[in-house]
Formats: sequence, structure tokens, C-alpha cells
Amino acid sequence: MSDPSSEPGREGQPLRVVIVGHVDHGKSTLVGRLIHDTGSLPEGKLEAIQAMCESRGMPFEWAFLMDALQAERDQGITIDSAQIWFKTTKRNYVIIDAPGHKEFLKNMVSGAASADAALLVIDAHEGVQEQSRRHGYLLHLLGVRQVVVAINKMDLVDYSRARFVKVEEEFRNYLADIGVEAQHIIPVSSREGDGIVNRSEKLDWYEGPTVIEAFDGFHPPMPLSELPLRLPVQDVYKFDHRRIIAGRIESGRLRVGDQLVLSPSNKAARVASIENWNETTPAIAASAGQSVGITLQEQIFVERGQVASHAENLPIETNVFRANVFWLGKKPLRVGNRYTLKLHTGEHRAQVQSIDRIVDVTDLSSGEGAEVAKNAVAEVTLRTRGLVALDEFPDNARTGRFVLIEDYAIVGGGIINMKGYPDQRQSVTRKSAYVFHEDHRVTANARWTFNGHRSGVLWLTGLSGAGKSTLALELESQLFRKGYQVYVLDGDNLRNGLNANLGFAPEDRAENIRRAGEVAALFAEAGFIVVTAFISPYRADRDRVRAIGPDGFHEVYVKASLETCEKRDPKGLYHKARTGEIPEFTGISSPYEAPEEPELVVDTDRLTVEESVALLLEYVEKNMVSGKGWEDPNRLGSVSQKAAPGL
Ligand code: ADX
Repeated sequence: MSDPSSEPGREGQPLRVVIVGHVDHGKSTLVGRLIHDTGSLPEGKLEAIQAMCESRGMPFEWAFLMDALQAERDQGITIDSAQIWFKTTKRNYVIIDAPGHKEFLKNMVSGAASADAALLVIDAHEGVQEQSRRHGYLLHLLGVRQVVVAINKMDLVDYSRARFVKVEEEFRNYLADIGVEAQHIIPVSSREGDGIVNRSEKLDWYEGPTVIEAFDGFHPPMPLSELPLRLPVQDVYKFDHRRIIAGRIESGRLRVGDQLVLSPSNKAARVASIENWNETTPAIAASAGQSVGITLQEQIFVERGQVASHAENLPIETNVFRANVFWLGKKPLRVGNRYTLKLHTGEHRAQVQSIDRIVDVTDLSSGEGAEVAKNAVAEVTLRTRGLVALDEFPDNARTGRFVLIEDYAIVGGGIINMKGYPDQRQSVTRKSAYVFHEDHRVTANARWTFNGHRSGVLWLTGLSGAGKSTLALELESQLFRKGYQVYVLDGDNLRNGLNANLGFAPEDRAENIRRAGEVAALFAEAGFIVVTAFISPYRADRDRVRAIGPDGFHEVYVKASLETCEKRDPKGLYHKARTGEIPEFTGISSPYEAPEEPELVVDTDRLTVEESVALLLEYVEKNMVSGKGWEDPNRLGSVSQKAAPGL
């Protein structure tokens, strides 16, 4: 596995299509057809193979032609074990046919190589079986976004539309489950040449494109210089009072005068100059592939590992992401292990938060597991301590891949996706610079003395159906009866008003929690004991809420297994999530990150509502109403002796 910065640019190269499918489903025949019917075969080649078959008394098979072509081309092949070239009037293609080969997976999953699109072949006769699922899943692993599916052997099912529709629907559902979207699902018969390059009367009920039309509809890879600017900072040098920021432009272009934003610090500055070490005339612009040294007009803090980009197209900022990883380490990868994450020029400590799926590269079967052995592929979730700047691999191969290092050796490589996780930039960005803070004349102490108790935030987090709202509302009622100033902030309620413009996409959830956290902090400042009931699935969001007022923040994990919540299903939402009616449902199709060190765990799998509330009440009275620098100077004793207002 190579260093992530070593792949050369791909400008001007043919479109790379990876072909995936079981041999018996007619992959070779389909490729043979593509080459032949587009007129891309070398003169006499087909005839030679046909003659060879005849002389040996064998029926002609397209696969023989493929074998012959492959044998000829194998010499020049470096990263993939089989590459076949052909062209249409629109452009050149290279078909990469190697899934299942370890080297292929290693290069693709580590991001050393990539495909622009994928063609998946399945058998109409057999329908969707384990093999086709595994191949579909491979597409998900490779992070290819342009996917076309060919349902082959339509001749064996009498070109039946009904059969096609059934297989199509079944497969589309499966692909949706694993987050792959097929642009087209095409009925074909490779053997007969129907629907590959030429339309066929036998498929006259089908109105979509042929395979080759679908290919020509793929978007070509963008030249790196046309992608958004990414200049990862390699080093900062001091030269005669000037600070020169050095690095290689991985993508995009840069001009003197451009306003740059450095991520993840989010500081902005204008490019004053592009230093040109060998030339006497100063450069005014530079683009992808060039190593540059730039100076900035404003003196902002810059360090290695930050990424300079333009404000209109910024990288993602996050401390958690998902990755498909190819594991090379002798010691297995395990949950909780820490590695050095080398991501463009940055090195960060990263911890394995979860192993989401492990793939056996020999047969592409996959499942759950506690550790990833050498030469296995896995989907994992990684967490860094601070925010890092990155991109999803399909958006930018340079800033979307990484290697993991342990004891100075590369132990794994992977490509990044953010499925289910938000870009945290919005959560940390301040949009206005010129705002001040007005001090209240009524102090927190005065409010506490007036109320007879301290204030704070009791933050309940957990899956939908774990019992957060039920417990919060019952606790509120009991605390109120005891004379406390208490108020519940509930997810569903806030989403009817303050947060009515937010949905359940990761960024919306992050914003939901940011607002809820700010409101909770204000209520606490106003003297209330605030009890909140939000799923609040992301650790990073909860940590930011804690940081607003760490002394008065108490995190409670309302714990219940997914099975329990699904069984309870008080609002019938789990059922809808399972049938696909609700996308991105927490615990099913969207992540939930349980707290690592909550102040309190309430296990509603085991405890009744009464027991759970008793536990919460005890916690509040012990830890929230007094202490930490404040005792009630009136010494009224327990608040419970006071009459609650209005009772
Ligand atoms: S959070 O994830 O942003 O913290 P919040 O607590 O405000 O969620 O809202 C969760 C409630 O919204 C759930 O109890 C449920 O009633 C409802 N809901 C609707 N769609 C979803 C979804 N996709 N995921 C989770 N909850 C949902």
C-alpha cells in the first residue's frame, strides 16, 4: 500500500468502469459483446477465435475471446488484474474486471486506485441470490457512485417483462439498503446481443437506455484542477519576517488575491504571493499537482495538517467518520484500539469506535465481528480527538483517503464516507464577529438564593423509545411538587416550534441539539433545573452542549436495547423505519453513539418507570440542587419543606 499522496493525476484517461458479477451470470459474455458490438475488436480477432473453436469442435463462447484478449494484455497490467479497453463514438473506456482478487480490493479499498463507474451483472433466470447481494455490496465498499445494473440472460426467461420487474424491484431494494443507487437497471441478453449496444425487438417493452447508452451517460472524472481547491499545509517556514505556507495543491487552483479559509481552524486570509523558488518573476496562479509556497496578507495561525480552500467549497470538519479499510496489520484491528491516522499532510491519533461490518475477501461474504484480521476488509467508524478536515472519497480521492500507522508501520488504508454523520462545521462556525456580551445585574447566585436551589441541565440521551420523555415528564412533575423550578425540553416538542425547520439528516440533528443545548443553558442561567429529552445521537454534539456550562451539565444515558425499543415502538416509528418509510431512523439506518462516561445510566430494560424516576430524583437532589460553590444562605433546609408555588 502506498502513501496516500502518491497516485498520479487521471486527466485525459479513459473512463474506468469496474465490472462486477458472478462468472456464471455472464460477465465475460457481456464484456465480449461490448467490445465486439462497439467495433473495438482488433481486426480478425473474432474470426480467429471462431476458427479455433471450429477446429476443436467446440461451440464459440464470448468468454474465449475475453480470455484471449486478457492473456495478451496481462503483461502491462499493474494494479488491477484485468483491464480491457474499448471505445464508443463518445469516449474511451477501460473495463476493470477483477473483484474478488485480493490486490484489486486492496487497491480499491485503500484508495490507491479507483473506478469512475460500475456495471453489475446479475442473472434474470436465477434472480437475486446471495452471490448478487455480495457483488452489490462490493459496489458499496468501493465507494462508486455511478452504478448501472444489467439483468442478463433475458433470453432464458423469454424476455419476460414480469420477470424483469420482479428482479429489478428486489435488487433495487437491496441496493437501497446498502446505500447504493443504480442509475439504470437494464434487461439484456449478452449471448444474443440484446440491449448491450443494439436495441432488440424482443425487449420492446423496455424504454430505458442500452448498456452502452448508460455508459455514455456517465460523468467523466473531473480533472483534479477542476475540483474545489485543497491545499493541505505541509509546513510553515519563517523567512525574513514572512511566513511561507508550503504544500502541494492536491486539487483545484489558487490565485494571488484569493480569500482562503483554513480548516479546521476556520480562519480566513488572502493570498499575498505565490513564491517561486526557481523563477525571478512571481507566479500569480498555481493548480493541482504543483507544490507551492504562499504568503498570506493577514497573519493567522496556520499549522501542518490544516487544509486551505476557498470559502465557497470547504472540506468537511469532523471528529468522527466511517471508512472502508483494508487491514494489513499483523495484530488485528479491534474496537478501542488507537492508531496514527495519516490523512493528507496531517497526523492525528484516532480510535476505532466501532467495527460495523467485516468482509472476507476470498468470497465477499460479510458479517459482524469483534476484530479485523490481516488482509480483511472492514467497515469501521473512526474517531479523532479534535476536528479534522477531510472529504468523502468519491468527492475527492486525495483528501478522502488515509492510512493507519502503528509502530511506524502502515497497518491499514481506507476511504472515507460520512454516511449518518454530520459535517460539524456548522456547529462550530460563528457567523458574526462583532457581537458582545452584556452582563446581567441579577447574578446566578441571587437567582439560586431566591429559588432555594442551584440550577443545571440534566441531559437525557438514548434511542427513540428508550423512555426519555416519559422519565423527563414524570421527573419534572415530582420535582415541581417538591418546590423546584424545573422545566422539560423535549425533542418532539421543540421540533413543533423552535426547530420546526429541521429534519433528521445528520446536519439537522446537530443543529437541533445545538439549539436545544443553548436553550437549556439559558434556562439554567435563568435558575431552572432543566431536564432534556433528545435522542442526541452524536457524542460531539453532546460534548459541545456540556462545554457551554460544564459545571451544571449532567449527562444521563437512558439505556435500552434496540430490541426493547423496537418492541415498545410507542409511536409505530420503528415499524415504519424497517419498511423503509422513514429513512435515517436512529438505531436502524442512522447511528447512535452511546455516552462513554455519563454521570448516570438509567437502564430501562431492567427498571420500571417508578424505579427509574426515583433514581433520577435521587441524583438531582444529591448532585444538582446544591454544592459546587453554592449553599443556600437562607438555610431553609430541604426545598421539599417549602410549598411549591401554586400548590
Ligand atoms: S435528535 O436525533 O435530533 O436528537 P429528537 O430527540 O429531536 O432527535 O427527536 C426524536 C423524535 O423524533 C423521536 O422520538 C421520534 O418520535 C421522532 N422521529 C421522527 N423521525 C425520526 C428519525 N428519522 N429518527 C429518530 N427519530 C425520529
